[in-house]
Formats: sequence, structure tokens, C-alpha cells
Amino acid sequence: MLVSATEMLQKAVEGHYAVGQFNINNLEWTKSILQTAQELNSPVILGVSEGAGKYMTGFKTVAAMVSAMIDEMKITVPVALHLDHGTYDGCYKCIKAGFSSIMFDGSHYPIDENVEKTKELVKVAHAMGISIEAEVGAIGGEEDGVVGMGECADPNECKMIADLGIDFLAAGIGNIHGKYPANWQGLSFETLAAIKEKTGDMPLVLHGGTGIPADMIKKAIDLGVAKINVNTECQLSFADATRKYVEAGKDLQGKGYDPRKLLAPGAEAIKATVKEKMELFGSVGKA
Ligand code: 13P
Repeated sequence: MLVSATEMLQKAVEGHYAVGQFNINNLEWTKSILQTAQELNSPVILGVSEGAGKYMTGFKTVAAMVSAMIDEMKITVPVALHLDHGTYDGCYKCIKAGFSSIMFDGSHYPIDENVEKTKELVKVAHAMGISIEAEVGAIGGEEDGVVGMGECADPNECKMIADLGIDFLAAGIGNIHGKYPANWQGLSFETLAAIKEKTGDMPLVLHGGTGIPADMIKKAIDLGVAKINVNTECQLSFADATRKYVEAGKDLQGKGYDPRKLLAPGAEAIKATVKEKMELFGSVGKA
């Protein structure tokens, strides 16, 4: 069932768990994530960055593929198709293409401009029944060529953006996209608590879910995080399983070069990673 992410995240706040956003790159990725969500009876958010959207030939292709898969695979758990770190133009494209949720990342604009653009997009998205995430305080690391320095959001700015009627808020708390460096300081729970205090029941989003230790994830959920984004970890598991298959020479045995065989270990590895995260986030059985 393709739905906006609003209700599933409000339920997550009430139930003290988080829904995973898993980024997709192609058909195998999407299929593995949907299969796992259905098997575990968990709500799920499929994240699509602008780069991944382009790679898959455009947002219309992605929306058509996802809704057809939900139908053909008989997926009954709630699924949101969500634009990840959208630009202003990207948001409009996804709304038109049939996404059920968007993120407008205005964190690199001065706060007044972020407010102005977010406000406009809230109106447009809500008129279409689409949920909207906004961001305050850049998330560190590199994603799709966009490099963020990683900063802790200002709780007052978070309140300004939350008050615009957005459905969930991404706020930097020292989190970083990609692998965490050895000298990473950890999440700033002080900042998270201050943001929670200002924003009340607003579901908070933790980007950069890859490599955050389980105890920090649990503490973040306790402090109001209701959506956790995971991208790199699925890529690493896929690459690792595929490398093992090729290094074992399996692609050269029989018809091991058949893409359905060559990509199968990677697809299974994505399923295992998604399962592990859904169990950690507490979303299993919450569909
Ligand atoms: P990771 O790649 O670090 O898991 O981050 C994903 C993310 O935050 C997508 O927005």
C-alpha cells in the first residue's frame, strides 16, 4: 500500500520505535526491501536521492516501478515513496511523478529562505496528500556528491521550521552520511533533547543511520527519533556479497553469469541488513 509517511511516523512516536528509510538504487534494491518489510510486517519508507532518481532514468520510472511492485508482490504493509534531500525543483518533480512523500533540504540556505521555501512546499504537498520532511543543520559527510560539514541544529530554528506544518524534521545532531570516521564524537543527545523540548510530538529524523552503534540508536529513539535513514550499509552488504560470489568464481560455473544469479547474493544481503535494522528500530509487527 503506497501511503504518505505521516501516519506511520505519528504511530512510531506514540509507540516509541522508529521506521526505517532505506534508499533504493534499482529493481533488486526495491524488491529486497519490500519483501523484507512484508515478511516482518513492518512499515517502510523507500528513499530516493536525486542522483538515484536520475540513475533509474527519472522519478516517473521510480514511481511507476514502486507502485507496480507493491501491486504485483501483493505488499499490504504501509510503504512511503520518499524523495531524499530534495532540491526545490526536485520536490515539484516528485510530487508530479506520484511520490507519496518528499524531503525539502533547505538546510544550506539562510534560515529565512529555508522557512519561505519550506512553507510553500508544505502547502503544495499537503494539497496532494503528500507528507513533507524539512531539514535544519546540515548532515555531515558526502552523499551523491553533496558534501555537508555536519553541524548541530539550533533548536530555535528547528521550532521555526516545525511550526510551518511539516510532517517530520531532520535536524543535525552530529550525524554523518556514509561511514563514521574513527575520531567521530558520537551523537549529541543534548542537542536532540533540546530539539525535542522545542518541537513536541514532531517525529524527528536521524540521517546517516549506517554505523551508528545500537545503544545510540536506542537512546535516539527514546528521545523522539521516529525515522532513521539507512543507505550506505545496504550498499556495503550488497558489494561484499557480490564480491564473494565473484571471487569464489561462481559467475564462471554453469550459468553463474546470469544476472538473476549474479545479483542474488547481494539482494539477499540487503534483505539481511534491512531485517537487522527493522529489528533494532522496533518496527517489526507494527504495520
Ligand atoms: P547513510 O548512507 O549513512 O546510511 O545515510 C543515509 C541517509 O541519511 C540518507 O538520507
